Amino acid sequence: VDSTISTEEKLQKVCQLLSDEIDYYNWVGFYFKNGDKNELKLGPYVGAATDHTIIPYGKGICGQVAESNETFVVPDVYAQDNYLACSIETKAEIVVPIFKDGQNIGQIDIDSHTINPFTADDTKLLDYICKRVGEIID
Ligand code: SME
Repeated sequence: VDSTISTEEKLQKVCQLLSDEIDYYNWVGFYFKNGDKNELKLGPYVGAATDHTIIPYGKGICGQVAESNETFVVPDVYAQDNYLACSIETKAEIVVPIFKDGQNIGQIDIDSHTINPFTADDTKLLDYICKRVGEIID
């Protein structure tokens, strides 16, 4: 990636690319730990504006991944009790954690309007992206 652009811009490009190239990726965004607080803050994203710009640890799919350190694949969001709805069109979600020096510093969050769309290929792709993002984040 072009090193003259900021990390923020790189992440924005990643969101745009994923959203453009994969038809069932309908909202693509990054959340990062908000300073010393036990909450996530919305970073670069592509898709509909969301009310969830701050998410406390433990709340929703994103907040659960902030605590579990594990990828969370949700084939059907309506089957989840601890879920924060961003759009009524969203049917499925995948959240993959981002690690820096072994610390869970954030995540990529993808919403889909298609039910049960995610396979092992998505997990593999997003794992790779999150690993690379962990390397370029300060
Ligand atoms: N659905 C997420 C909230 C973030 S929006 O999808 C952009 C959750 O349950 O944590």
